[in-house]
Amino acid sequence: MKILVFSASSRNGSLNKALSNIIYEKIKKLGLDVSFSEIKDYETALYDGDVEASQGVPLNAQNFKALLDEHEAFIIVSPEYNFSAPGNLKNLIDWASRTKQQPFRNKQIFLASASPSLVGGNRGLWSLRIPLSALGAHVYPDMFSLSLAHEAFTGDFKALKDEKLNNGLEKLLNSFLKYANKSL
Ligand SMILES: Cc1cc2nc3c(=O)[nH]c(=O)nc-3n(C[C@H](O)[C@H](O)[C@H](O)COP(=O)(O)O)c2cc1C
Repeated sequence: MKILVFSASSRNGSLNKALSNIIYEKIKKLGLDVSFSEIKDYETALYDGDVEASQGVPLNAQNFKALLDEHEAFIIVSPEYNFSAPGNLKNLIDWASRTKQQPFRNKQIFLASASPSLVGGNRGLWSLRIPLSALGAHVYPDMFSLSLAHEAFTGDFKALKDEKLNNGLEKLLNSFLKYANKSL
């Protein structure tokens, strides 16, 4: 099983990217086939039906589809904007859904978020479940949302300060990966 960890924030110093990196390293340590990618590399203009009709799906969205096609399981780590998923992530999903054999069908997906708030961006993940489920992905029921994320990392951003939270994240990732592997 090939696993993709995808950070959906393009911000330098992103808390979600820091969480993505920790998740990536944890999966790598398990000896599994995992890669990392981020939304910054797939910037795409807002969906426009006329552009699609005249020029087709933009190159970056095609590249994103190709990236997804190479993996069976995705871990999407996304910020919450106004209680919802970020517009650029939703836009990328919309464009990718317009490609032949859209790349979400039957994929195993785990969602995670980080936010300075007490809720950790969890409401954004609930909104993300809707398009992903509509596209036929299997979105794992449990999610990981890191609250007070601005205080949650060690100084080098390579680990979570709280050992219990760290163990909880590992347990959750293990459960998802086992389930995803069995469901292939
Ligand atoms: C437009 C916008 C809306 C936001 N809305 C929320 C929100 O609804 N809930 C929340 O917890 N944080 C919200 N935030 C704060 C983000 O969680 C915070 O900026 C976070 O650090 C962004 O993720 P990143 O660090 O990975 O870039 C919002 C930020 C922006 C820019």
